Amino acid sequence: MAETLRQPAEVTHTEDLSRLAKADPGPRPPGWSLTPRAVRRFICGDEDLGITAKFVGDDALVDRSIVSLMGRQGLMLVGEPGTAKSLLSELLAAAISGRSNAVVQGSAGIIEDHLRYGWNYALLLAQGPSPAAMVPSPVLNAMREGHIVRIEEITRCAPEVQDVLISLMSEKTMAVPELGDDHEIRARPGFNVIATANLRDQGVHGMSSALKRRFNFETVQPIADAGHERALLARQLAERMAEQPEMPQLDPDVLGLLVTVFRELRAGKLEDGTPMAKPKAVMSTAESVNLAHAALLDAAYLDRGPLSPRHLARQLQGVVFKDDPEDARKLAAYIDVAARDRARDSALWKEFYQAAQAGLAKNGLG
Ligand SMILES: Nc1ncnc2c1ncn2[C@@H]1O[C@H](COP(=O)(O)OP(=O)(O)OP(=O)(O)O)[C@@H](O)[C@H]1O
Ligand SMILES: [Mg+2]
Repeated sequence: MAETLRQPAEVTHTEDLSRLAKADPGPRPPGWSLTPRAVRRFICGDEDLGITAKFVGDDALVDRSIVSLMGRQGLMLVGEPGTAKSLLSELLAAAISGRSNAVVQGSAGIIEDHLRYGWNYALLLAQGPSPAAMVPSPVLNAMREGHIVRIEEITRCAPEVQDVLISLMSEKTMAVPELGDDHEIRARPGFNVIATANLRDQGVHGMSSALKRRFNFETVQPIADAGHERALLARQLAERMAEQPEMPQLDPDVLGLLVTVFRELRAGKLEDGTPMAKPKAVMSTAESVNLAHAALLDAAYLDRGPLSPRHLARQLQGVVFKDDPEDARKLAAYIDVAARDRARDSALWKEFYQAAQAGLAKNGLG
């Protein structure tokens, strides 16, 4: 296979999927490629089978999501950016249908045809409307073939376009009037919809209540436990660095420092409960993985040494300084209060504090 930057989940985790299919031959809901229990083990991990957890922090949410996909309603994953909504939807589709690449990416440019079908106009003009001239959407293909279709960022589509889903999700049928009055395509077992929506940008208020009723809503929260977050960070960094010839040493305490900084800025309070101003920028786990990855590349290729707090501090401004100038001042206050205090009796925090101060000073904030 040609090298690509990223493979879909069913390719990356193909071994896990086949191991689970063998280990659990029990009855499957119609159209599913694994049992619901195997789907859960694929996502939440299983030590006995050597399967690592891929989505961490809330196994009950995964259970509820699986149950809602067995029923007649779709699944709507909502939450702050970077809480792994897209990741969870991809993992669910890969485990349930064996494929996660039936996706509609929501945007203002999406029209009804992208959720129903369009036409190959050359064929349409030559032969008139026929099944061969139809260009099916991923939704139509999923209905015909009985698998899951994912709609990413559904709230970025105009509400009247979103509403195309109302009738097809309740009737499980799509009418094609161009091919005859009663021509319709009926969904096969295994068809369902997983949508994701970001609470930060558009929110879900614009969505019609009729459409909301077709979905079970699940809110994905940031990872609650600091230890889980640190372990996830370490694992994802190892995966991302796997293809790099240079992998610097990873000190768990350095990762711990990064997790602390992110959690405190995200929550707007220090570990001891002291309140502080919370930046508007998204301090998600996804961002911390990206930051640590950039810091590791810096350590590996520019410094040729282990990852240190200095590398983390250098990247931090890029995450926090996005659009709100107030955020820069909030970060400066955090560094000045929390980091300086800890720098007194920790060499790691001292290094972090000094590098962060130097960066802020360059921006006139030190
Ligand atoms: N609970 C979690 N389990 C596993 N990975 C997580 C978790 N929370 C965050 N992540 C990290 O977030 C990354 C995936 O983010 P993803 O793009 O799925 O988020 P999202 O919620 O869809 O964000 P957005 O709203 O910006 O689209 C993962 O690759 C992982 O690094
Ligand atoms: Mg997403």
